[in-house]
Amino acid sequence: MRVLLTGGAGYIGAHTAIALLEAGHDVLIVDDMSGTSPEAVARVEQITGTTVPLLVADVRDRQALTDFLRRNAPVDAVIHLAGLKAVGESMAEPVRYYDVNLGSSITLLEVMAAEGIRTIVFSSSATVYGTPEQLPLTEESPTGIDLANPYGKTKRIIEEILSDAAAADPDLRAISLRYFNPVGAHPSGLIGEDPHGIPNNLMPFVSRVAIGSLPEVAVFGTDYDTPDGTGQRDYIHVTDLAAGHVAALEQATPGYDVYNLGTGEPVSVLELIAAFERASGREIPKRLAPRRPGDVAATYGDPSKAGRELGWATRLTIDDACRDYWNWQSRNPRGYAGA
Ligand code: UD1
Repeated sequence: MRVLLTGGAGYIGAHTAIALLEAGHDVLIVDDMSGTSPEAVARVEQITGTTVPLLVADVRDRQALTDFLRRNAPVDAVIHLAGLKAVGESMAEPVRYYDVNLGSSITLLEVMAAEGIRTIVFSSSATVYGTPEQLPLTEESPTGIDLANPYGKTKRIIEEILSDAAAADPDLRAISLRYFNPVGAHPSGLIGEDPHGIPNNLMPFVSRVAIGSLPEVAVFGTDYDTPDGTGQRDYIHVTDLAAGHVAALEQATPGYDVYNLGTGEPVSVLELIAAFERASGREIPKRLAPRRPGDVAATYGDPSKAGRELGWATRLTIDDACRDYWNWQSRNPRGYAGA
């Protein structure tokens, strides 16, 4: 298949591009580079030995998107990863989050319809489950009752738009992938996460402490009702996540469906820090701190539906993720900016 990746130069996008190319698909990328660098695409090309057509544009730029698709026709499918993703920022700038995340998805669906592209895989998030009532989370778990932030709401609304669009169009194949916590990096050390400024998420923060650019990691909450008192999450290696996109694309059938992409294994904050210390061979200074507002004690997913219906399963562990993240971080201490 020839596949358009929106946000294809980002952390998950670049890994997905590699997975698609290695599975024999063709890839083209549209990305506005607001959260990443064209260097990521250059490195995808280096790893795969393939030239990847790249449009640097906002997905809301209907004309640019249409021209790009026509220049590269026929395009068979879209994997839609472009969007803003910082929870705190979404609370400070809700209108911008609705504008960018919803606007890009709506423009994309309209352009796909006009160009006859009838398959879309969407980058959703386990954040749509809000505070879990029961663990592990399955695709039937309730969503959205208490979503605390506009970022999560945009994911839920886009899921609903896709579901409605598929109900109205018997030819549309639409899949939402609900990611748990993506971590790790490409084993080559050439591609990885490159957050700008101080990272919000745990593994990038821990990695910056290990490399010495941040002094210590704050452990947000030590009195949760979990085995060691710290928060538990379902950390999925980004190359396993990327493989999930290829499986979803290849197995997509008419209609709408959703799949959890996670490991099903809860890992605590202290366990992740210990795994990163083993992988890096460095001690990671930590400070026990109060809970972060909005955090839940534990969340992890049941990935068995993706196993049954997509033939997909995770292969890598938290230790693999720490090793690969550290390999990327230590080879690229300044991320793509150091290239
Ligand atoms: C966060 C977002 C979620 C988003 C996901 C993307 C919030 C409330 N949720 O999830 O919507 O989909 O990232 O990966 O921001 N922690 C520390 N110290 C730190 C950073 C984190 O102890 O410096 C802890 C947190 O309390 C949590 C765990 O590490 O228990 C994971 O945190 P994080 O990586 O931010 O992910 P989530 O909160 O699960």
